Amino acid sequence: MASVLIVGGEGRAHALGWKLAQSPLVEQIYFAPGNGGTGAVGENLPIEVNDLSGLLKFAKKTKIDLTVVSPEQPLVDGIVDLFEAAGLPIFGPSAKAAMIEGSKVFSADFMLRHNIPHPASTPVSTLAEAKDYIKNRSPKDYVIKADGLAAGKGVIVPKAQAEAETALIKIMQKSILGEAGRQIVFQERLRGQEVSAFALSDGQKIIMLPFVQDHKQVFDGDRGPNTGGMGAYGPLPFMTSQLAERIKTEIMQPAIDGMRADGTPYRGLLYGGLFITEVGEPKAIEFNCRFGDPECQVLMMLVDEDLYPILMGCAQGNLTKDSIKLKTGSAAIVCLASKGYPGTAETGYEVKGLDKIKDPNVMIFHAGDKKENGKVITSAGRVLGVTAYGKDLKGALSKAYAQIGPKGIHFEHMHFRKDIGFRVLG
Ligand SMILES: Nc1ncnc2c1ncn2[C@@H]1O[C@H](COP(=O)(O)OP(=O)(O)O)[C@@H](O)[C@H]1O
Ligand SMILES: [Mg+2]
Repeated sequence: MASVLIVGGEGRAHALGWKLAQSPLVEQIYFAPGNGGTGAVGENLPIEVNDLSGLLKFAKKTKIDLTVVSPEQPLVDGIVDLFEAAGLPIFGPSAKAAMIEGSKVFSADFMLRHNIPHPASTPVSTLAEAKDYIKNRSPKDYVIKADGLAAGKGVIVPKAQAEAETALIKIMQKSILGEAGRQIVFQERLRGQEVSAFALSDGQKIIMLPFVQDHKQVFDGDRGPNTGGMGAYGPLPFMTSQLAERIKTEIMQPAIDGMRADGTPYRGLLYGGLFITEVGEPKAIEFNCRFGDPECQVLMMLVDEDLYPILMGCAQGNLTKDSIKLKTGSAAIVCLASKGYPGTAETGYEVKGLDKIKDPNVMIFHAGDKKENGKVITSAGRVLGVTAYGKDLKGALSKAYAQIGPKGIHFEHMHFRKDIGFRVLG
């Protein structure tokens, strides 16, 4: 029987651990560091995700059979290279392959070289060049992207010229994003439906997972500042099998093939951030080197087979399947956030009503909370995600919403969006 180490403490990490714990092949799950909910699935370790040598030491000592990396930073920092050098199986791309997310300049160039449909992209490394680029253009025709990892704060979709200029000065002159903003990429502004695509890969084959949409903005109607994600749902009712096939063969498989051809084979989960343009053309605006959070929670509710051998196959470069069994219904997640989020969050409140959840098609994936004297206490901005499975999207969403409130799950000053799914449900 296997033991698994999940590197992460977000809702995504909880969902991955929850799914893997159901495997008949898995005996023990460890989370580093986990959160207020993961203790129900496995054991939380006092090791942070960026403590790569601490993680390696633990995995060696405990003879971990498979390590699954949830967030991007340790991947970009080379955790996979470190574990592989020690002969330990680990799910995720190498540091070089993770560049596909770690550098937007790299990814724009990669898509160009491998004929992956994408918006026209122009990398720029000085403020003078950047000002020159925006001078004769309408701000509605481009977006600005900081090159490096910026925790969702690196992309500006400007409404006016002055906004673009201020952002460029902040990023390129005042360095508010540090190294991540040393270079930027201008990208042609696309319009249409935004879709997230997910492919599991062993470096060669891919297994496509359902398409998902999320809501990044904090307030209803997709207004207000961006967050890590306030909710997500899938599969998408407008996704035809023809479009799905195009995304697989024109974007996701060519990305895996391109990485292999470049000598940096991509193993793990490849996340394609896509637009389906107004004329129905799929284009990639970015790639991420891990699952989305909270999209992962939705996916884990939909997968209907043992995930352990599949993740192990990806890690070891010998995936034997090209598809995964899925449930026939839909899943959705509604994230509950602390007062102040996505700014400074007010925390330290008890999460109440967790014991009232009895429906087997509802899962609470914890994120920004911790367990103290048997109580679950809020500790960060995004506290938890109420996730539900139903026969359709409407059913899944109403089931999720039914769990939230004074008679269900609640905490002091919590806020959440009341309109998750409106883009497809109206
Ligand atoms: N070329 C584009 N055209 C229109 N909107 C875009 C474009 N690129 C990004 N965006 C918007 O900005 C958001 C963030 O951009 P993305 O490339 O996904 O970077 P990140 O997730 O690293 O912040 C996207 O989800 C999308 O809403
Ligand atoms: Mg994105």
